[in-house]
Amino acid sequence: MYALARPFLFALDPERAHDFALSALRTAWQLGLNPLLARRPAACPVDLLGIRFENPVGLAAGLDKNGDYFEALAALGFGFVEIGTITPKPQPGNPRPRMFRLPEAGAVINRMGFNNKGVAHLVKRVECSNFKGVLGINIGKNKDTPNERALDDYLYCLERVHPLAHYVTVNISSPNTQGLRDLQQEDALRTLLGGLRERAAQLDSKHARRVPLLVKIAPDLDETGLDAIANVVAETAIDGIIATNTTISRESVRGVAHAVEAGGLSGAPVREPSNRVLGELRRRLPTLPLIGVGGISEGAHAVEKHALGANLVQCYTGFIYRGPALIAESVEAWRTAMSGSTA
Ligand SMILES: Cc1cc2nc3c(=O)[nH]c(=O)nc-3n(C[C@H](O)[C@H](O)[C@H](O)COP(=O)(O)O)c2cc1C
Repeated sequence: MYALARPFLFALDPERAHDFALSALRTAWQLGLNPLLARRPAACPVDLLGIRFENPVGLAAGLDKNGDYFEALAALGFGFVEIGTITPKPQPGNPRPRMFRLPEAGAVINRMGFNNKGVAHLVKRVECSNFKGVLGINIGKNKDTPNERALDDYLYCLERVHPLAHYVTVNISSPNTQGLRDLQQEDALRTLLGGLRERAAQLDSKHARRVPLLVKIAPDLDETGLDAIANVVAETAIDGIIATNTTISRESVRGVAHAVEAGGLSGAPVREPSNRVLGELRRRLPTLPLIGVGGISEGAHAVEKHALGANLVQCYTGFIYRGPALIAESVEAWRTAMSGSTA
């Protein structure tokens, strides 16, 4: 089905295609037509972070920023769905065009800039839903909030989403909000994650519900940067890391149409740098839950991340190019690899 729709979608401007596809998907889901859109993967449960995931393949943040479509997306077979990045106040993001396809490279460049309807909208959407799957909520800061006050924005979002999320992701790795990645530096990170951890613990006892806190990092970190992250995550008892967001590097797409556009590059070219970061984190943090994301476009890529130490994986750009078939293929490849490794 997706193979039929793709030429039509790819003839549209990427952001329009995105909005159109999501609306159509939600309508199909409301009409009960989703079994026609995707073959549901066989069960492949994973227990992590105190949560049971039906399968290890999740949808990465950014596709459903406002929580308008997560039920329909989950019905395609994802083991979990991460919504957001959401900020305290609504904001329009960067001027369009701000999303570009690089089909020869199996990639996308985006400079969306955290366009979103604000945390109150997302909360209302999730509260009105009777969704039974695993929902991660990814939080960020508004563009006009200086880094010195970033913690306030993250705390504001954390307090509102805590009662609704299975886990919360602290996004400090989007390249499209000026200065955001500076929050990955050791001192800033200690203040941010320390403050969030403390408040999360208070919220956990208030709501009698433990909500794990994860941090999402960039693929462009060097060894020193990774050391700093590993140290602070261990010190502040953050529950896990999502590795990685998009890259600012253009090394592997030089000369490709749109490669010079500003923003974060995702898809096939980010697979190698994401995998490097994942492997390095696993070496530094042998038991920490890790979610591997970046460049998965076939089942073997999910297994590759598993071999590097990922407990779960997510995809975004591969899903745009391949459609829901990528989910079942990745789950199946993971299941086969696991049964091989335990045989
Ligand atoms: C158009 C677009 C928007 C994105 N928005 C977000 C976002 O709001 N928050 C976030 O944490 N990651 C965001 N991402 C990053 C993805 O979640 C993912 O980490 C990254 O694209 C690498 O995975 P992929 O190669 O499978 O796409 C976005 C990616 C794309 C392509």
